[in-house]
Amino acid sequence: MGQPLNLGIVGLGAISAQYLRTIDRLPQVRLVAVADLDLDRAREAVAAYPGVDVLSVAELLADPRIGAVLNLTIPAAHAEIALQAIAAGKDVYCEKPLAATGEDARRVLEAAQAAGVRVGCAPDTVLGTGTQTARQAIDDGLIGRPIAATATMVTPGHERWHPNPDFYYVPGGGPLLDMGPYYVSSLVTLLGPVAKVIGAASRTRAKRTIGSGPRQGEEIPVTVDTHVTGVLVHESGALSTLVMSFDAVATKAPNIEVHGERGSLVVPDPNHFDGEVLLTRLGDDGPRPLPVSAGYADAGRGVGLIDLAEGREPRAGGTLAFHVLDVMESLLASAHEDRAVNVESTCERPKPVALGGFAPRD
Ligand SMILES: NC(=O)c1ccc[n+]([C@@H]2O[C@H](COP(=O)([O-])OP(=O)(O)OC[C@H]3O[C@@H](n4cnc5c(N)ncnc54)[C@H](O)[C@@H]3O)[C@@H](O)[C@H]2O)c1
Repeated sequence: MGQPLNLGIVGLGAISAQYLRTIDRLPQVRLVAVADLDLDRAREAVAAYPGVDVLSVAELLADPRIGAVLNLTIPAAHAEIALQAIAAGKDVYCEKPLAATGEDARRVLEAAQAAGVRVGCAPDTVLGTGTQTARQAIDDGLIGRPIAATATMVTPGHERWHPNPDFYYVPGGGPLLDMGPYYVSSLVTLLGPVAKVIGAASRTRAKRTIGSGPRQGEEIPVTVDTHVTGVLVHESGALSTLVMSFDAVATKAPNIEVHGERGSLVVPDPNHFDGEVLLTRLGDDGPRPLPVSAGYADAGRGVGLIDLAEGREPRAGGTLAFHVLDVMESLLASAHEDRAVNVESTCERPKPVALGGFAPRD
């Protein structure tokens, strides 16, 4: 192995602990420094990781030791931080969505291309054994020609548990932009890029009440749709039906199912790395679990950095993330304009992940 990738993290909020745990297990990555608008929060987040500097955002972005910036800020700040990191000549890996709008995401990709740096983007959960085993089953022909999929995500709202849930209810948030990246990335991994979408969306109430933390009881405004449904027409001709809700209470529908001419697959939660893949072949009495056959095992958020650290184009990559954002924005445009919308972008189906792959430090 060559030199590890020197990493700086900007944004040390709720999700950062998961990344810190994974990065600590990656010999390919060395965490050099962290930064946040709230320096105390940054300091506290890395208290258990000796040797990590706590810097201002400007200091971190100017630090010549740092080769890549992990951007864990809120969606509204994703593009701004990414563009600054790119201008400083650093690779960037961003939490999802790549930016709050497709236009901002395009600026990030164009700037990265001009600067000759790489862009990675969450979710990397789809590189885990769950989605990858399902993909392998499809590629091996176990369900025959894929014809359709369903993707269902239902929760009454993240304000029930997140102490600062404001960003979930402004542009860049909502159930589609928040959770859609997991589902649409998984669907693109399984069935390839999307050519056209037909959407419908609704919004139940103008305010939400924070359910935990120091701001418990405070009302926050809702300016995005909170129940979004639609059909994605993949370039292959397969049709995916999507339901993303911050309004509905619960569901017994599988997170994702994929149907082919000769079989159906239940695909585990794309917000998790692992989980059981179930196959029912034409004529079977019922579903049977498939052995794990592909993907990073025992993975955590941050494994998407491995490709960057090992000098490859990231499979949790900017072009995929841009296409996913474009699909989601097109779906909302379809809902608001009451017409089918062609998706202008496309992407390669990301390369598969062989079983194992993840080399833990201990
Ligand atoms: N919370 C989760 O469970 C979860 C899960 C998966 C992905 N994500 C994604 O991770 C990202 C962060 O979510 P979170 O829940 O950790 O949010 P959070 O609000 O808890 O933390 C965000 C942090 O970024 C900092 N920040 C905001 N703007 C900044 C700027 N311009 N410069 C420097 N720091 C800035 C804030 O001070 C805060 O500490 C979002 O894109 C979210 O979609 C969150």
